[in-house]
Amino acid sequence: MKVLVIGSGGRDHAIAWKFRKSPRVRQVFVAHGNGGISRIATCVNAKTIEEMVDFAEKEKIDLTFVGPEKPLSAGIVDLFESRGLPIIGPNRRASRLESSKCDTKIMLRELGIPIPEFAVFSDPEEARSHVRRLDYPVVVKADGLAAGKGSLVCSTTEDAERAIQEIMVDRVFGDAGSRVDIEKRLFGRELSFFCFTDGYSLVPMVAAQDYKRARDNDEGKNTGGMGAYSPHPWLTKSLVEVIMSRVAEPLIHGVREKYGILYQGILYLGLMLTEEAGELNPQVLEINIRLGDPEAQVILPRLETDLVDICEAILLGNLNDVTPVWDPAYRLCLIAVSGPTKGKKGWYKGYPDRYKIGVPIQGLESIDQDCLLFHSGTELCPDGQFITTGGRVLCIVSRGDTLVEAREIAFREMEKLSFDGLYYRKDIGMA
Ligand code: GLY
Repeated sequence: MKVLVIGSGGRDHAIAWKFRKSPRVRQVFVAHGNGGISRIATCVNAKTIEEMVDFAEKEKIDLTFVGPEKPLSAGIVDLFESRGLPIIGPNRRASRLESSKCDTKIMLRELGIPIPEFAVFSDPEEARSHVRRLDYPVVVKADGLAAGKGSLVCSTTEDAERAIQEIMVDRVFGDAGSRVDIEKRLFGRELSFFCFTDGYSLVPMVAAQDYKRARDNDEGKNTGGMGAYSPHPWLTKSLVEVIMSRVAEPLIHGVREKYGILYQGILYLGLMLTEEAGELNPQVLEINIRLGDPEAQVILPRLETDLVDICEAILLGNLNDVTPVWDPAYRLCLIAVSGPTKGKKGWYKGYPDRYKIGVPIQGLESIDQDCLLFHSGTELCPDGQFITTGGRVLCIVSRGDTLVEAREIAFREMEKLSFDGLYYRKDIGMA
């Protein structure tokens, strides 16, 4: 069978790698891919969803899997389905669950799903008055898509007013900031929880710990993710049951029954686990409509079941018959990003702020064969040299029987990579 993966980052490299391992897959195409992906799949220069569907039709693609949220929100699933092409991902209406933080929080409240206290504003002055009245710290979230950077975590009222200014007035995330969701900041442990769903049945995946802040000890700005590991130490069988029964199932059944939305594909719940009376309580911080990046890089290597079989079950609506098998060993992902470096016109602060691109990368060939190396932002030059093209550049994924072993291997291997400005967090897997 021929598979098309949509995407060009580290997650999408991991998805393409997983499909390559399937005995049922003859050829993997990726639109539009990157330097590293071009080593394992055929990269296709299709940038718009119309170009992608034309390619899939012409090439007679049997299965398309969508990595990032943007094409999903733009309606790629509706477009492929209208041409009779099998595709995995939620349709445009279902994608609102990620592309509007405000509408989703309102929907979750109506469905009785646990969420932090929140309020929605489209007027900056009203938002400012609101945070001045509160006696707890908040997170200010841009309503629309902001590449994982649109949630500003605040400690004081001044921080919150600054966040409102940046998002709503300065529009640092563009039109995504025309509305904000201001919610109570919860303290606990974050967990990225994933399910496959055909819209009726749900199958939980293993969970991952993501590290969103740019600097060690969870300091610095929010990023798309600086590293991850799986299994998650807090995710017991009983916690899975709690999350499924209080969040995932009421959500998928609720959106179908109350709003007429059939949600199919991957459901990603960004949860905060808070402890109350000795019990862990999951509360929904955000919903994403896809696999996480870098969570996919640690989850997919643990999946022993053929991803094609799972996709087929989603499309046929018989996911109930599937029980995925997972490798219990740890996977840990460390991301090398474009950090602070000097450019012609002064200093670049580095990801998630401005960073330099086009920087040659060394050491790729010396990474241990037992590790996986997924590329997030690279290009392969005609002379065989890889150069940087993004903020997140490379992901090293190690395997260990313990978290400590996985961490030691990943950090050891990261030492072998170099490029001007290379930066990575030193505390991934520590807590
Ligand atoms: N790692 C966070 C995300 O994929 O949204």
